[in-house]
Amino acid sequence: MSGAQGRTNGLIGFLPIAIGGPPANAIEDSAYFACPKMQLEVPGSSVSLVTLHLSQLEFCSVHPEEEALLQGNVAEKRRSEFALGRAAARLALIEQGFTDPPPVLKGTGREPAWPKGIVGSITHCGPWAVAAVANDRFVWALGIDLEDIDAVPHNEIGDIVCSEAERDWVFGGRDTRLRLAMLFSAKEAIYKALFPLCRKFFDFHDADLTWFPQRGCFLGKLCTDLSPEFPKGFSFEVDCRRRANFVFTRATIEAHNRTTADEQESSAI
Ligand SMILES: CC(C)(COP(=O)(O)OP(=O)(O)OC[C@H]1O[C@@H](n2cnc3c(N)ncnc32)[C@H](O)[C@@H]1OP(=O)(O)O)[C@@H](O)C(=O)NCCC(=O)NCCS
Repeated sequence: MSGAQGRTNGLIGFLPIAIGGPPANAIEDSAYFACPKMQLEVPGSSVSLVTLHLSQLEFCSVHPEEEALLQGNVAEKRRSEFALGRAAARLALIEQGFTDPPPVLKGTGREPAWPKGIVGSITHCGPWAVAAVANDRFVWALGIDLEDIDAVPHNEIGDIVCSEAERDWVFGGRDTRLRLAMLFSAKEAIYKALFPLCRKFFDFHDADLTWFPQRGCFLGKLCTDLSPEFPKGFSFEVDCRRRANFVFTRATIEAHNRTTADEQESSAI
């Protein structure tokens, strides 16, 4: 198929993948767009993950209702990252089986409002935007974050982000900048995963992370009660990988961990 076929079908945001266009996940790998690539996929995962680069922006458009979320005098950089993030979200939803995904609007806490039955998350960093979505039959909570290691304000955030044990880990290794970026990013991913469910702001000291090098992930533990479903001591994993100068983290809590407030109450009796 010629590259033009995929492009002339429309802009990425509205690419009708099912008819004649490339499969959604081919966007990143295809020769359609000469742009850098960032491989973040986890093979075999039930999560659809789409990465877009700024050089693909000209093929992206946002849904008018999404565009309406950016009111007033919004900086060009913000418009670009927003459009790229929403286009990535749309492609990820198509990969999950939506033929014409609805716009992804915003909740009251600025979180993306996904279609019913879907959990997901968006991150932007430098020229990249990434969206991850999954069916809530398989995944209860999902949060992702991308950070440029050099752009993380290392001198300022150590105390804000780290517990004492985390500081020992960060400063006990050779690459403290990398470790701090990993920890910071993982905590942002946790926030994005849990906020839509607990509906509560919580800060960096409300979760504690321990690095498991063999598994390439942090084990996270809540240090505070966020909600009946997410009590103090609740634990989860945060996958962390480095790509070039970026750190990508993904907090995924699978659906079999899901409890309702009722179940929590009865187990406490
Ligand atoms: C919300 C926050 C996590 C965003 O992270 P960031 O590194 O600044 O920016 P990113 O580009 O990675 O992510 C921005 C996206 O996060 C998503 N987001 C914003 N608020 C959100 C929330 N309350 N819940 C879930 N996702 C949210 C949005 O999709 C947003 O992009 P969009 O506005 O284009 O839709 C961060 O600004 C923040 O408030 N952090 C403090 C809270 C925290 O991290 N606590 C640590 C708990 S251990």
